[in-house]
Amino acid sequence: MRNLSVNKKKIDTILVLDFGSQYTQLIARRVRELDVYSEILPWDIDEEKIIKLNPKGVILSGGPNSVTNSFTPRVPQAIFDLNVPLLGICYGMQTLAEQMGGHVISSNKKEFGHAELEIVTDSLLFKNLNRKVNVWMSHGDQVQDLPDEFELTASTSSAPIAAMQHKKQPIYAIQFHPEVTHTENGLLILKNFIFNVCKAHDDWKINDLISSRVEEIKNKVCKQKVLLGLSGGVDSSVTAVLLNRAIGKNLTCVFVDNGLLRKGESEQVMQTFKENMKLNVIKSNSQDLFLRHLENVDDPEQKRKIIGRTFIDVFDSEAIKLKDVKFLAQGTIYPDVIESSGSESNEARVIKSHHNVGGLPDEMELDLIEPLRDLFKDEVRRMGIELGIPKEMLERHPFPGPGLGVRIIGEITKEKTLILQEADNIFIEELINAGLYEKVSQAFAVLLPVKSVGVVGDERRYAEVIALRAVETVDFMTARWAHLPYDFLEHVSNRIVNEIEEVSRVVYDISSKPPATIEWE
Ligand code: XMP
Repeated sequence: MRNLSVNKKKIDTILVLDFGSQYTQLIARRVRELDVYSEILPWDIDEEKIIKLNPKGVILSGGPNSVTNSFTPRVPQAIFDLNVPLLGICYGMQTLAEQMGGHVISSNKKEFGHAELEIVTDSLLFKNLNRKVNVWMSHGDQVQDLPDEFELTASTSSAPIAAMQHKKQPIYAIQFHPEVTHTENGLLILKNFIFNVCKAHDDWKINDLISSRVEEIKNKVCKQKVLLGLSGGVDSSVTAVLLNRAIGKNLTCVFVDNGLLRKGESEQVMQTFKENMKLNVIKSNSQDLFLRHLENVDDPEQKRKIIGRTFIDVFDSEAIKLKDVKFLAQGTIYPDVIESSGSESNEARVIKSHHNVGGLPDEMELDLIEPLRDLFKDEVRRMGIELGIPKEMLERHPFPGPGLGVRIIGEITKEKTLILQEADNIFIEELINAGLYEKVSQAFAVLLPVKSVGVVGDERRYAEVIALRAVETVDFMTARWAHLPYDFLEHVSNRIVNEIEEVSRVVYDISSKPPATIEWE
């Protein structure tokens, strides 16, 4: 399958060179919040790609390594040869210092958290900032001696060289993290770099982007047919509506109802996309097929595999029925691309498996079209709003591909699915009513494979146990259990036990990730 990402018009670009920091994506997102296009490349990328990108400026990210060790990442010569402004952040500063003749030491005074930065020299990077700024630090190493031709621009009490700049060239470096919200005026520092130092233009606008993407898709697809697996999630929904705007009925969306969706979800997806937005959507009612395949299976991995395989079978058989399809569209977004790029610096990262679309039969020979491939989730959401997708659909918590299949612990049956859908619906409804839905990153109910004794009125009830799970997280790689108010939990628990007679008990999951995962299976 050939991959045809949609070509972009050439606009000003800031390159973020990745040294493996957990904040790298955040730096790129912040740049884009300023309406300037940014792209992330790993530090060990092929130099040709750096040259081809032709950036207006480069930000060197932080990273987990120590420049005091040999064989740790360095800024490649191609970056210096670009002759464009550079901004080193944390590890980016340390390697710049080391490579340009300074000296870095491993300090035994590690600094994590807030620090007061004192600006000691005028700098374009700190324009319009007060002399004292609260910043966010996270480092062990620090610059001990400035490189030749550099001057000190700011200090903190434990990092005397907390910022520096080249005396003649537009090269800046800071030990703290301007991309995190804990750094006061961090965005202003990035703004100063991008607009005052790099002189980049703010020409990355979602509205312009929609019209240019629509044109690009039209030119690529012409009158040919495109197939898309629509899950109702943000990425596939926005891809579907964007393609529909470009090519209308030449797009066919296949929505597979596997019976493991949230309460009312199947109807909502069809209502929104087919009835209201007039997309060409085929729904495959495959609930019974999935249940049959899952009969007597209680192993989590096996359940996942069966759900994945059945999905592919159903999708394939729908696809084969369609004539003359030339393209397969996918809602791949930028974090998926970054996380699966095979660079050395990305090796340690977790790669999320995709369950949207499986492998199609080779004889279909479809070309892949991924119009959101360079967008972050918040940009996809903004695009979705502009395209008229209801806000409630775009702001829903993530939902795993195997759906309720991994939230019914043990064997899956239709009865259990109905109980879980009801309990989950009560929990979500109450979170929304209490204004808590947006405050947590993901929330759901889980049906446990144990029964417990309860007493309702004067009656003994030996029935199911529901666990409630709610987490707060930025990247879903780590998560903290959400400290929901006791009164709220009490209310939800009462509603579940009173309204669902098959349930006798509700528990709240207080495990964080790690060591627990967000889903139970
Ligand atoms: P875990 O359970 O690994 O989940 O902590 C992290 C995030 O990923 C979601 N998740 C999945 N998403 N297919 C998906 O598309 C899957 O198989 C899958 N498993 C977990 C989970 O809901 C959470 O947001």
